[in-house]
Amino acid sequence: MKIDIVALKENLQYLDQYIALRNNYKDDLFTEIVTYQETRNWLQNNSIVNMIATQNKMLLGVVILYIDKKNEVTIFVKEKNKGIGTLLLKEIEKHAIKNGLTYLLSWIEESNKASKTLFIKEKYTLMHKKIKKYNNINYNGNIFKKDLYI
Ligand SMILES: CC(C)(COP(=O)(O)OP(=O)(O)OC[C@H]1O[C@@H](n2cnc3c(N)ncnc32)[C@H](O)[C@@H]1OP(=O)(O)O)[C@@H](O)C(=O)NCCC(=O)NCCS
Repeated sequence: MKIDIVALKENLQYLDQYIALRNNYKDDLFTEIVTYQETRNWLQNNSIVNMIATQNKMLLGVVILYIDKKNEVTIFVKEKNKGIGTLLLKEIEKHAIKNGLTYLLSWIEESNKASKTLFIKEKYTLMHKKIKKYNNINYNGNIFKKDLYI
């Protein structure tokens, strides 16, 4: 069955599934738990692009582009290793090019092999090390960048 990639803010019927998946990955994403109302408010922010992959009313994965955080991209999927991460990364790149962005970035924690493999496969290159503090612990990671040619 066909996989659709759509904007979450225009498809709020997926909001519960989105919040459940996101909160489930809170530690991998270095974020805090969010509520339904917080997420609805957050989706009003025009400097955030949130796209979801869906199939048969099921949420398969999410890509978020934070234009207000130097075009940082985050991805998470429900079932790993099925190509959904690749699909979402390619889609956000198309969106970025269409909207005149000239590069995308991602911060990837040192031990996150799946994410590193995905971004390197999609031609992101390692720029520099960056430590992120989360729950009072420092995590080593790297900024990966891809220049987009418009
Ligand atoms: C990172 C993540 C989004 C990748 O999504 P995915 O849908 O599993 O990725 P894909 O199936 O498109 O695979 C992309 C590539 O990574 C490889 N890969 C996937 N998991 C891997 C792992 N654990 N170790 C090494 N390589 C891995 C795949 O083999 C594939 O490469 P290939 O095409 O050469 O075979 C997913 O693992 C995830 O949701 N992780 C938890 C949240 C997270 O850490 N997100 C990163 C924040 S930036």
